[in-house]
Amino acid sequence: MTVRILGIETSCDETGVAVVDDSHTILAERLASQIAVHAPFGGVVPEIASRQHTKVISRLTEEVLEEAGPGIDAVAATNGPGLMGSLLVGVNFAKALSYAWKIPFIPVHHIEGHIYSTFLSSPPPDFPLLALIVSGGHTQLIYCPSPLEYQILGSTRDDAVGESFDKVARLLNLPYPGGPSIQKAAESGDPRAFDFPRPFLTSETLEFSYSGLKTAVLYQLQKTPEASVPDIAASFQAAAVEVLIVKTLKALEQTNAPCLIVAGGVASNQHLRDELARHIQVPVHLPPKALCVDNGPMIAQAGLVRYKHNEYGDLRTTPRPGISMSRPGD
Ligand code: KG4
Ligand code: ZN
Repeated sequence: MTVRILGIETSCDETGVAVVDDSHTILAERLASQIAVHAPFGGVVPEIASRQHTKVISRLTEEVLEEAGPGIDAVAATNGPGLMGSLLVGVNFAKALSYAWKIPFIPVHHIEGHIYSTFLSSPPPDFPLLALIVSGGHTQLIYCPSPLEYQILGSTRDDAVGESFDKVARLLNLPYPGGPSIQKAAESGDPRAFDFPRPFLTSETLEFSYSGLKTAVLYQLQKTPEASVPDIAASFQAAAVEVLIVKTLKALEQTNAPCLIVAGGVASNQHLRDELARHIQVPVHLPPKALCVDNGPMIAQAGLVRYKHNEYGDLRTTPRPGISMSRPGD
């Protein structure tokens, strides 16, 4: 019998709701982005974010259920990491549905959701695999020997790569969110115009560091305020992406993983996609661009895998804003 999971994502500034089934198919999905609400502040305002989730979650869920038709086997929601107020909206909404419908509630780690976003394209990847997670909050290389098993190989010591795109965009007076703005500005720039630092590039570590790169852009702007914005954007993007590619190659060599998945908001960056195609020899699975930023289907898909492994939460499960990936089921 087909299994159908309702997935809810409210960890940050997108309200995502979706139903997927066990043939990797999205039966219905809705996404309410809060970009326009937060843009005047240049970043996400937590209190506004949670209020926005509260405003739209019932309507989005009704629409998704109407479109997917009857029969939901479990409700999954992002349990962390993320903003406490925002997580509470999705988790409590999902727990209420689980109680009313007498079906399991399944907490999902946000990064686990990003990993499983790549299973919604066909053909889906297979285990073992290496995951490169590049989002606004995370930069991680994770080895996954089997479903729901995660070995963290390297993380960022300071800023996440998406965060550095956002911060550099602000320095360049480009609109929020910074990633797409930098990518667009970089199209007409020279990536060799400025030689920005590539932290840990030659060392064996699989750790990342992105705050120095942002500071280097700041110093450059102080030194040459008249510098071309496209040139700075292109040079910054080249440095940020080169580190990702080199560390991923090292991790592939260390693990012998036969397959790479790349997920998270920055996975929609075209320069990163081009460089992956140029340098990575093993098959690379990327979600469609619409599933790179936070969304409902990825949480539903991860929830489906947990459902099949009988990994449920219960009504006492509460959000874990700072939960790590090494023990996501805790
Ligand atoms: O995965 P996501 O929606 O949220 C987190 O889980 O953090 O990722 C959002 C991040 C933001 O930092 C945004 O600037 C970045 O993804 N991003 C991009 C692009 N599109 C979104 N970064 C670089 N190039 C892009 N095209
Ligand atoms: Zn995310």
